[in-house]
Amino acid sequence: MAKETALSGIRPTGELHLGNYFGALRQWVSIQEKYDCHFMVADLHSLTTLETTKNIKEKTLELAGLWLASGLNPKKSTIFLQSAIPEHGELGSIFSTLLPVSMLELNPTYKEMVSENPKAGSFGIMNYPVLQAADILIYKASRVPIGKDQDPHIEITREIARRFNRRFGNIFPEPRSMFDEVPKIYSLSSPQKKMSKSHGPDSYIALLDSPDKIRRKIKSSVTDSGSEIKYDELNKPAISHLLDIFYLVSDKSAKELEKKYKNSGYAEFKKDLAEAIIKHLTPIQKKYAEISKNPKAIEKILKDGSERARAVAQKTTREVKSKIGLLDF
Ligand code: TRP
Repeated sequence: MAKETALSGIRPTGELHLGNYFGALRQWVSIQEKYDCHFMVADLHSLTTLETTKNIKEKTLELAGLWLASGLNPKKSTIFLQSAIPEHGELGSIFSTLLPVSMLELNPTYKEMVSENPKAGSFGIMNYPVLQAADILIYKASRVPIGKDQDPHIEITREIARRFNRRFGNIFPEPRSMFDEVPKIYSLSSPQKKMSKSHGPDSYIALLDSPDKIRRKIKSSVTDSGSEIKYDELNKPAISHLLDIFYLVSDKSAKELEKKYKNSGYAEFKKDLAEAIIKHLTPIQKKYAEISKNPKAIEKILKDGSERARAVAQKTTREVKSKIGLLDF
Protein backbone atom coordinates (compact mmCIF):
# COMPACT_ATOMS: atom_id res chain seq x y z
CA MET A 1 0.00 0.00 0.00
CA ALA A 2 1.25 3.47 -0.86
CA LYS A 3 2.41 5.48 2.11
CA GLU A 4 0.39 8.49 3.21
CA THR A 5 2.05 11.83 2.49
CA ALA A 6 3.04 14.11 5.36
CA LEU A 7 4.20 17.71 5.05
CA SER A 8 5.41 20.17 7.61
CA GLY A 9 7.54 23.28 7.79
CA ILE A 10 9.29 25.73 10.07
CA ARG A 11 10.10 29.36 9.33
CA PRO A 12 13.81 30.24 9.41
CA THR A 13 13.22 33.05 11.85
CA GLY A 14 15.95 32.54 14.40
CA GLU A 15 17.06 29.99 16.90
CA LEU A 16 15.40 26.61 17.01
CA HIS A 17 14.44 25.80 20.61
CA LEU A 18 13.28 22.90 22.77
CA GLY A 19 9.65 23.72 22.01
CA ASN A 20 10.24 23.31 18.26
CA TYR A 21 12.34 20.22 18.89
CA PHE A 22 9.88 18.26 21.04
CA GLY A 23 6.77 19.75 19.42
CA ALA A 24 7.79 19.04 15.84
CA LEU A 25 11.30 18.00 14.89
CA ARG A 26 11.70 14.90 17.06
CA GLN A 27 8.36 13.70 15.82
CA TRP A 28 9.41 14.25 12.21
CA VAL A 29 12.49 12.12 12.70
CA SER A 30 10.37 9.27 14.00
CA ILE A 31 7.83 9.20 11.15
CA GLN A 32 10.30 9.18 8.26
CA GLU A 33 9.78 5.50 7.45
CA LYS A 34 6.06 5.36 7.91
CA TYR A 35 5.11 8.35 5.75
CA ASP A 36 6.23 9.87 2.49
CA CYS A 37 7.65 12.90 4.30
CA HIS A 38 8.17 16.44 3.03
CA PHE A 39 9.91 18.93 5.30
CA MET A 40 10.06 22.50 4.14
CA VAL A 41 12.00 25.56 5.20
CA ALA A 42 9.14 28.08 5.09
CA ASP A 43 11.24 31.05 4.04
CA LEU A 44 8.41 32.85 2.24
CA HIS A 45 6.27 32.66 5.35
CA SER A 46 9.04 34.27 7.36
CA LEU A 47 8.66 37.44 5.28
CA THR A 48 5.45 38.20 7.14
CA THR A 49 7.50 39.45 10.07
CA LEU A 50 9.89 42.10 8.86
CA GLU A 51 12.52 41.82 11.57
CA THR A 52 13.09 38.17 10.68
CA THR A 53 14.15 38.80 7.10
CA LYS A 54 17.67 39.64 8.25
CA ASN A 55 20.31 37.02 7.28
CA ILE A 56 17.59 34.81 5.95
CA LYS A 57 20.02 32.79 3.84
CA GLU A 58 22.22 31.95 6.85
CA LYS A 59 19.19 31.15 8.97
CA THR A 60 17.85 28.86 6.27
CA LEU A 61 21.10 26.87 6.20
CA GLU A 62 21.28 26.80 9.99
CA LEU A 63 17.74 25.47 10.24
CA ALA A 64 18.30 22.79 7.61
CA GLY A 65 21.64 21.90 9.27
CA LEU A 66 19.88 21.43 12.61
CA TRP A 67 17.27 19.24 11.00
CA LEU A 68 20.00 17.02 9.62
CA ALA A 69 21.85 17.01 12.95
CA SER A 70 18.63 15.96 14.70
CA GLY A 71 18.19 12.97 12.41
CA LEU A 72 16.22 14.02 9.34
CA ASN A 73 17.55 11.93 6.50
CA PRO A 74 17.46 13.28 2.93
CA LYS A 75 17.50 9.72 1.61
CA LYS A 76 14.21 9.04 3.34
CA SER A 77 12.52 12.46 3.32
CA THR A 78 12.20 15.31 0.85
CA ILE A 79 13.85 18.28 2.55
CA PHE A 80 13.28 21.45 0.55
CA LEU A 81 12.99 25.20 0.31
CA GLN A 82 9.60 26.84 -0.13
CA SER A 83 10.81 29.77 -2.25
CA ALA A 84 12.41 27.37 -4.75
CA ILE A 85 8.96 26.11 -5.77
CA PRO A 86 7.08 28.96 -7.49
CA GLU A 87 3.99 26.74 -7.84
CA HIS A 88 3.24 27.27 -4.12
CA GLY A 89 2.52 30.92 -4.90
CA GLU A 90 0.58 30.02 -8.01
CA LEU A 91 -1.68 27.61 -6.17
CA GLY A 92 -1.90 30.09 -3.27
CA SER A 93 -3.29 32.75 -5.55
CA ILE A 94 -5.93 30.37 -6.90
CA PHE A 95 -6.81 29.34 -3.34
CA SER A 96 -7.09 33.00 -2.29
CA THR A 97 -10.28 33.24 -4.34
CA LEU A 98 -12.02 30.45 -2.43
CA LEU A 99 -12.51 31.99 1.01
CA PRO A 100 -14.19 35.19 2.14
CA VAL A 101 -11.83 37.68 3.76
CA SER A 102 -14.10 37.64 6.82
CA MET A 103 -13.02 34.05 7.47
CA LEU A 104 -9.34 34.95 7.30
CA GLU A 105 -9.92 37.86 9.66
CA LEU A 106 -11.08 35.39 12.30
CA ASN A 107 -7.82 33.45 12.19
CA PRO A 108 -6.32 33.74 15.72
CA THR A 109 -2.74 34.27 14.51
CA TYR A 110 -3.92 37.12 12.29
CA LYS A 111 -5.93 38.66 15.12
CA GLU A 112 -2.97 38.39 17.48
CA MET A 113 -0.56 40.04 15.07
CA VAL A 114 -2.94 42.84 14.25
CA SER A 115 -3.80 43.50 17.87
CA GLU A 116 -0.10 43.72 18.74
CA ASN A 117 0.56 46.04 15.84
CA PRO A 118 -2.66 47.37 14.29
CA LYS A 119 -1.07 49.21 11.39
CA ALA A 120 1.25 46.37 10.36
CA GLY A 121 -1.42 43.92 9.27
CA SER A 122 -0.17 43.29 5.73
CA PHE A 123 -2.10 41.33 3.16
CA GLY A 124 0.65 38.70 3.43
CA ILE A 125 -0.20 38.15 7.08
CA MET A 126 -3.86 37.73 6.29
CA ASN A 127 -2.96 35.42 3.44
CA TYR A 128 -0.56 33.37 5.58
CA PRO A 129 -2.89 30.37 6.07
CA VAL A 130 -3.84 30.40 2.38
CA LEU A 131 -0.19 30.03 1.36
CA GLN A 132 0.17 27.37 4.06
CA ALA A 133 -2.79 25.50 2.53
CA ALA A 134 -1.01 25.60 -0.83
CA ASP A 135 2.19 24.25 0.82
CA ILE A 136 0.27 21.28 2.14
CA LEU A 137 -2.21 20.54 -0.63
CA ILE A 138 0.22 20.89 -3.52
CA TYR A 139 1.77 17.60 -2.28
CA LYS A 140 -1.68 16.21 -1.48
CA ALA A 141 -0.45 15.65 2.07
CA SER A 142 -3.04 14.06 4.31
CA ARG A 143 -0.97 14.52 7.48
CA VAL A 144 0.63 17.62 8.95
CA PRO A 145 2.95 16.79 11.84
CA ILE A 146 2.90 20.01 13.81
CA GLY A 147 1.94 21.43 17.21
CA LYS A 148 -1.62 22.18 18.26
CA ASP A 149 -1.11 25.93 17.91
CA GLN A 150 -1.33 25.44 14.14
CA ASP A 151 -4.82 23.90 14.32
CA PRO A 152 -6.59 27.01 12.99
CA HIS A 153 -4.37 26.96 9.89
CA ILE A 154 -5.01 23.28 9.29
CA GLU A 155 -8.73 23.93 9.65
CA ILE A 156 -8.49 26.64 6.96
CA THR A 157 -6.54 24.19 4.78
CA ARG A 158 -9.34 21.66 5.09
CA GLU A 159 -11.93 24.29 4.25
CA ILE A 160 -9.98 25.28 1.13
CA ALA A 161 -9.66 21.62 0.08
CA ARG A 162 -13.41 21.09 0.53
CA ARG A 163 -14.30 24.21 -1.42
CA PHE A 164 -11.95 23.42 -4.27
CA ASN A 165 -13.15 19.81 -4.45
CA ARG A 166 -16.79 20.82 -4.45
CA ARG A 167 -16.37 23.48 -7.08
CA PHE A 168 -13.89 21.92 -9.49
CA GLY A 169 -13.72 18.20 -8.74
CA ASN A 170 -12.30 16.05 -6.03
CA ILE A 171 -8.50 16.08 -6.07
CA PHE A 172 -7.38 17.16 -2.61
CA PRO A 173 -7.39 15.23 0.68
CA GLU A 174 -8.60 16.99 3.82
CA PRO A 175 -5.40 16.92 5.85
CA ARG A 176 -5.23 16.32 9.56
CA SER A 177 -2.57 17.45 11.96
CA MET A 178 -0.74 14.90 14.07
CA PHE A 179 0.99 15.28 17.39
CA ASP A 180 3.15 13.12 19.52
CA GLU A 181 1.71 12.45 22.91
CA VAL A 182 4.25 14.89 24.26
CA PRO A 183 3.60 17.61 26.78
CA LYS A 184 3.73 21.16 25.51
CA ILE A 185 6.87 23.11 26.31
CA TYR A 186 6.38 26.41 28.09
CA SER A 187 8.38 29.60 28.46
CA LEU A 188 11.00 29.63 31.23
CA SER A 189 10.11 33.18 32.20
CA SER A 190 6.32 33.17 31.94
CA PRO A 191 4.98 29.68 32.64
CA GLN A 192 1.54 30.40 31.19
CA LYS A 193 2.94 31.08 27.71
CA LYS A 194 4.31 28.48 25.32
CA MET A 195 8.06 28.51 24.66
CA SER A 196 8.66 30.96 21.82
CA LYS A 197 11.40 33.04 20.30
CA SER A 198 9.23 36.10 20.69
CA HIS A 199 9.40 36.26 24.49
CA GLY A 200 13.13 36.96 24.71
CA PRO A 201 16.22 34.72 24.74
CA ASP A 202 15.99 33.87 28.45
CA SER A 203 12.55 32.36 27.99
CA TYR A 204 13.75 29.46 25.86
CA ILE A 205 16.58 26.96 25.48
CA ALA A 206 17.96 27.03 21.95
CA LEU A 207 19.25 23.76 20.52
CA LEU A 208 22.62 25.42 20.04
CA ASP A 209 22.89 27.04 23.50
CA SER A 210 26.22 26.36 25.20
CA PRO A 211 26.22 24.32 28.44
CA ASP A 212 26.89 27.47 30.47
CA LYS A 213 24.05 29.33 28.87
CA ILE A 214 21.71 26.41 29.57
CA ARG A 215 22.82 26.31 33.23
CA ARG A 216 22.26 30.04 33.56
CA LYS A 217 18.84 30.04 31.87
CA ILE A 218 17.54 27.11 33.93
CA LYS A 219 18.93 28.64 37.11
CA SER A 220 17.09 31.88 36.49
CA SER A 221 13.86 30.24 35.28
CA VAL A 222 10.70 31.22 37.13
CA THR A 223 9.45 28.92 39.92
CA ASP A 224 6.33 28.79 42.05
CA SER A 225 5.95 29.66 45.69
CA GLY A 226 6.85 26.90 48.15
CA SER A 227 9.88 24.73 47.56
CA GLU A 228 8.20 21.40 46.93
CA ILE A 229 8.90 19.62 43.64
CA LYS A 230 5.44 18.50 42.66
CA TYR A 231 3.54 18.05 39.42
CA ASP A 232 0.49 20.26 39.84
CA GLU A 233 -0.24 22.29 36.72
CA LEU A 234 -2.92 24.37 38.38
CA ASN A 235 -1.06 25.46 41.51
CA LYS A 236 2.53 24.94 40.47
CA PRO A 237 2.63 25.58 36.73
CA ALA A 238 6.30 26.61 36.58
CA ILE A 239 7.61 23.50 38.32
CA SER A 240 5.21 21.27 36.41
CA HIS A 241 6.51 22.64 33.12
CA LEU A 242 10.11 22.13 34.21
CA LEU A 243 9.19 18.56 35.16
CA ASP A 244 7.80 18.10 31.65
CA ILE A 245 11.10 19.23 30.14
CA PHE A 246 13.01 16.99 32.55
CA TYR A 247 10.84 14.05 31.51
CA LEU A 248 11.41 14.73 27.80
CA VAL A 249 15.18 14.96 28.06
CA SER A 250 15.65 12.09 30.52
CA ASP A 251 12.67 9.76 30.02
CA LYS A 252 12.12 9.80 33.79
CA SER A 253 8.45 10.23 34.64
CA ALA A 254 7.17 13.10 36.78
CA LYS A 255 6.41 10.54 39.51
CA GLU A 256 9.99 9.27 39.54
CA LEU A 257 11.33 12.80 39.53
CA GLU A 258 9.03 13.91 42.35
CA LYS A 259 10.29 11.01 44.41
CA LYS A 260 13.91 11.68 43.64
CA TYR A 261 13.70 15.36 44.55
CA LYS A 262 11.32 14.95 47.49
CA ASN A 263 13.83 16.29 49.97
CA SER A 264 15.75 18.67 47.78
CA GLY A 265 15.07 22.26 46.98
CA TYR A 266 14.65 23.97 43.64
CA ALA A 267 18.39 24.65 43.33
CA GLU A 268 19.41 21.01 43.18
CA PHE A 269 16.51 20.10 40.94
CA LYS A 270 17.42 22.85 38.51
CA LYS A 271 21.07 21.91 38.52
CA ASP A 272 20.25 18.34 37.52
CA LEU A 273 17.69 19.49 34.97
CA ALA A 274 20.28 21.70 33.27
CA GLU A 275 22.73 18.78 33.11
CA ALA A 276 20.04 16.48 31.66
CA ILE A 277 19.26 19.04 28.94
CA ILE A 278 22.96 19.44 28.15
CA LYS A 279 23.35 15.67 27.90
CA HIS A 280 20.42 15.46 25.54
CA LEU A 281 21.63 18.27 23.28
CA THR A 282 25.34 17.46 23.17
CA PRO A 283 25.11 14.79 20.41
CA ILE A 284 22.95 17.09 18.26
CA GLN A 285 25.36 19.99 18.77
CA LYS A 286 28.33 17.80 17.89
CA LYS A 287 26.70 16.64 14.68
CA TYR A 288 25.70 20.19 13.86
CA ALA A 289 29.29 21.40 14.33
CA GLU A 290 30.34 18.79 11.76
CA ILE A 291 27.56 19.49 9.27
CA SER A 292 27.80 23.27 9.45
CA LYS A 293 31.44 23.17 8.34
CA ASN A 294 30.12 22.57 4.88
CA PRO A 295 27.20 24.90 4.10
CA LYS A 296 27.47 24.05 0.40
CA ALA A 297 26.54 20.46 1.21
CA ILE A 298 23.48 21.64 3.14
CA GLU A 299 22.53 23.82 0.21
CA LYS A 300 22.89 20.87 -2.13
CA ILE A 301 20.53 18.77 -0.02
CA LEU A 302 17.93 21.56 -0.13
CA LYS A 303 18.42 21.98 -3.86
CA ASP A 304 18.05 18.27 -4.63
CA GLY A 305 15.01 18.04 -2.36
CA SER A 306 13.49 21.09 -4.03
CA GLU A 307 13.91 19.53 -7.47
CA ARG A 308 12.05 16.44 -6.33
CA ALA A 309 9.37 18.50 -4.63
CA ARG A 310 8.94 20.73 -7.65
CA ALA A 311 8.19 17.81 -9.96
CA VAL A 312 5.25 16.88 -7.70
CA ALA A 313 4.15 20.51 -7.35
CA GLN A 314 4.12 20.97 -11.11
CA LYS A 315 2.06 17.84 -11.59
CA THR A 316 -0.57 19.02 -9.10
CA THR A 317 -0.64 22.50 -10.64
CA ARG A 318 -1.34 20.99 -14.08
CA GLU A 319 -4.10 18.90 -12.59
CA VAL A 320 -5.58 21.97 -10.90
CA LYS A 321 -5.53 23.93 -14.13
CA SER A 322 -7.20 21.14 -15.99
CA LYS A 323 -9.91 20.75 -13.32
CA ILE A 324 -10.63 24.46 -13.42
CA GLY A 325 -10.62 24.39 -17.21
CA LEU A 326 -7.76 26.80 -17.80
CA LEU A 327 -5.78 26.55 -21.00
CA ASP A 328 -2.46 24.94 -20.15
CA PHE A 329 0.61 25.06 -22.37
N1 TRP B 1 3.03 28.20 10.07
C1 TRP B 1 4.06 27.27 10.41
C2 TRP B 1 4.75 27.76 11.71
O1 TRP B 1 4.72 28.90 12.01
C3 TRP B 1 5.08 27.14 9.32
C4 TRP B 1 4.52 26.57 8.07
C5 TRP B 1 4.45 27.16 6.85
C6 TRP B 1 3.95 25.26 7.91
N2 TRP B 1 3.87 26.35 5.94
C7 TRP B 1 3.54 25.16 6.55
C8 TRP B 1 3.71 24.20 8.78
C9 TRP B 1 2.91 24.02 6.07
C10 TRP B 1 3.08 23.06 8.29
C11 TRP B 1 2.69 22.97 6.96
O2 TRP B 1 5.35 27.01 12.39
